[in-house]
Amino acid sequence: MSQLMNALDDFGLAVVDGLRQSPKTIAARFFYDQRGSELFEEITRLPEYYPTRTETALLRAHADDIARLTGQGGAVVEFGSGSSAKTPILLRAIRPTAYLPIDISADFLDLSAEALAAAHPDIEVFPIAGDFTDPIRLPDDVDGPFVGFFPGSTIGNFAPQAAVDLLRSFRATLGSGATLVIGIDTRKNPRLLEAAYDDAAGVTAAFNRNLLHRMNRELDGSIDVDAFEHRVAWHDGLGRIEMHLEAREDTEFRVAGQRFAMRKGETIHTENSYKYTPEETRLLARASGWEPLAMWTDADAMFSLHVWHAVAAHKEP
Ligand SMILES: C[S@@+](CC[C@H](N)C(=O)[O-])C[C@H]1O[C@@H](n2cnc3c(N)ncnc32)[C@H](O)[C@@H]1O
Repeated sequence: MSQLMNALDDFGLAVVDGLRQSPKTIAARFFYDQRGSELFEEITRLPEYYPTRTETALLRAHADDIARLTGQGGAVVEFGSGSSAKTPILLRAIRPTAYLPIDISADFLDLSAEALAAAHPDIEVFPIAGDFTDPIRLPDDVDGPFVGFFPGSTIGNFAPQAAVDLLRSFRATLGSGATLVIGIDTRKNPRLLEAAYDDAAGVTAAFNRNLLHRMNRELDGSIDVDAFEHRVAWHDGLGRIEMHLEAREDTEFRVAGQRFAMRKGETIHTENSYKYTPEETRLLARASGWEPLAMWTDADAMFSLHVWHAVAAHKEP
């Protein structure tokens, strides 16, 4: 067993470990291989997927207010930058000397960073391929102050305690004097939420199932992908959308050299997406060493955009 574990990378370890749990669970960051990143881009253009267009409009409407709060110059560090499609709005307002996009999807990151650098020759671009839940070391030759950018409500993929830990680690990475511009999805009518994660064209279903294709491709898997259904449900008590892959029938497969069996109706839990009220976002900020400076929402309160300031480290009395 330990030989197998040594031979497996992060993805393999997480899959073998996650499929042994009950209920079976695999973390959402593993969606994002090259194909997963491309499918996510398609999702952002779907009529049901309100977060991207709403957050983009909020960034456009408040770019100057944001720059007044963050100050101009310094460096922008983006966590989970993906295509960096919203970033130019922020860069035009803040005018940093450097931009550091961090993403786990390495090839997609390189292409996005190249395109951004070509469009902004006055900004130095330092792509960092890696997992932003690991300690991040920013290059020594980049000067702050640092503005963190964490759009897309990626924070929603973390359960509240893990979200606090992550935001605390961003605070430590960015240092005192930092600000964080963060997009957070709001609690709303469950029908709208469920439609956003289960679109009519089936793109989110393909995104979810791509995880199974990825296991087949990278971990020598034998999964019959068609034996799995995309399932989405809103859990009011937990304040989250859950995404699962549900076995349509009893099925057996091999992945990373291990055998697994699933009964009809059993699921692999692949994503949580927590939604927050304005009060909860303030609690989240304060619990993780940030002080809220501003919050904006659209007229229908579909999405919220925030600027937080790093609280100076202090000792409790
Ligand atoms: C929901 S998408 C958001 C993309 C983009 N920021 C936006 O606003 O549309 C999440 C992004 O974060 C990246 N990501 C997810 N988990 C990550 C992790 N643990 N470390 C680094 N990047 C991660 C994914 O590859 C993807 O690009």
